[in-house]
Amino acid sequence: MCVVGARPNFMKMAPILRALAAHTPPLPALLLHTGQHYDQEMSEQIFADLGLPRPDLNLNVGSGSHAQQTADVMRSFEPALDEHRPDCVLVVGDVNSTLACTLVAVKKGVPVAHVEAGLRSFDRRMPEEINRLLTDQIADRLYTTERSAARNLEREGIAAERVAFVGNVMIDSLLTNKPHARSPAETLKAHGLDPALLHHPSGYAVVTLHRPSNVDTDTALRAIFSVLAEVAADMPLVIALHPRTRANIDRFGLNHLLDAKRVAILPPQGYLEMLGLVAGAALVLTDSGGLQEETTALGVPCLTLRDNTERPITVEQGTNTLVGTDRNAILAGVAAVRAGRGKRGRVPELWDGQAAQRIAADLWQWQQRRTPGASVA
Ligand code: UD1
Repeated sequence: MCVVGARPNFMKMAPILRALAAHTPPLPALLLHTGQHYDQEMSEQIFADLGLPRPDLNLNVGSGSHAQQTADVMRSFEPALDEHRPDCVLVVGDVNSTLACTLVAVKKGVPVAHVEAGLRSFDRRMPEEINRLLTDQIADRLYTTERSAARNLEREGIAAERVAFVGNVMIDSLLTNKPHARSPAETLKAHGLDPALLHHPSGYAVVTLHRPSNVDTDTALRAIFSVLAEVAADMPLVIALHPRTRANIDRFGLNHLLDAKRVAILPPQGYLEMLGLVAGAALVLTDSGGLQEETTALGVPCLTLRDNTERPITVEQGTNTLVGTDRNAILAGVAAVRAGRGKRGRVPELWDGQAAQRIAADLWQWQQRRTPGASVA
């Protein structure tokens, strides 16, 4: 039973489902969507772009406080698990749905595999960090995307036999879909914006922001958008607004900061639109985990508006620089890119488009070890 809940889960699951089907023997899978993300833009469009099948089951939990959302997923997931009795539950990433389904399955004795295990920001104020720590403690099989993850898990007392370094399924999706990415000019036109904005000697930057620490208070959000307005004076910005950020801009009355010249505001974008925008950008400014990885794979410089990252390889080997939310650090990072001194980086080990195949092969062997001779038909 393969679980997805929120937008960043979908691009991780799509290659896994394909690899399970392509495995010899095929490994049958049920796709369960918790419904944590439910908008057309945050869910259905991305499903369509990635060629994901319609979920076999949808729990339709929707939004709520962390406790409410996690509890709702748990309450609705239990009967689904009882009804379908899968051999294994596969979860990805670090969202509330990941932890909620893991907790339910493990307590019912259903083995859990966690894809993207062992990433740590060491910042427990991030809800995702709590989800990562707890999921990894109790899941049975842990698939990692970079070598630092195994060291984190070892430090937390997790036996090395539970861990397999398989690479990054996010990059599987990126490589599969890159030839089909939508052109940035088309994307702007589709929203009634003039694509001439993209043609600037410095190129353009793509911006995404949604971390609660950056967007949930008036002070933080106002400070970031004020710096972005300054950046836009030198480099056009394409900002894809997450619903959380959109709502807070309205709530704090910050719409005037979006009116700067050379700023294009878009709603949440589809996967192919975002891929096209990012691949064509001179720079990405973001607080997203996925974009830190995608920019590294694409060789596009990335300034991460956070003080830490759970994906250190993107800084050590890739194109990522942590700038926090300090005005001077952001402006210096932008200036470096404009001066042609942006990081070029290299693609990390096993970010090769084959991670999902390695997961399918390992899941099969793991299943064989648990129940030798078992059939999966
Ligand atoms: C969640 C994940 C985060 C991930 C992000 C990507 C957790 C703890 N956080 O954060 O790790 O990076 O998804 O987007 O699981 N909303 C909509 N439509 C939707 C979904 C949400 O309008 O389809 C709005 C609602 O007002 C909701 C808010 O966005 O309250 C936040 O959604 P939620 O799922 O709680 O967390 P995200 O901030 O999206």
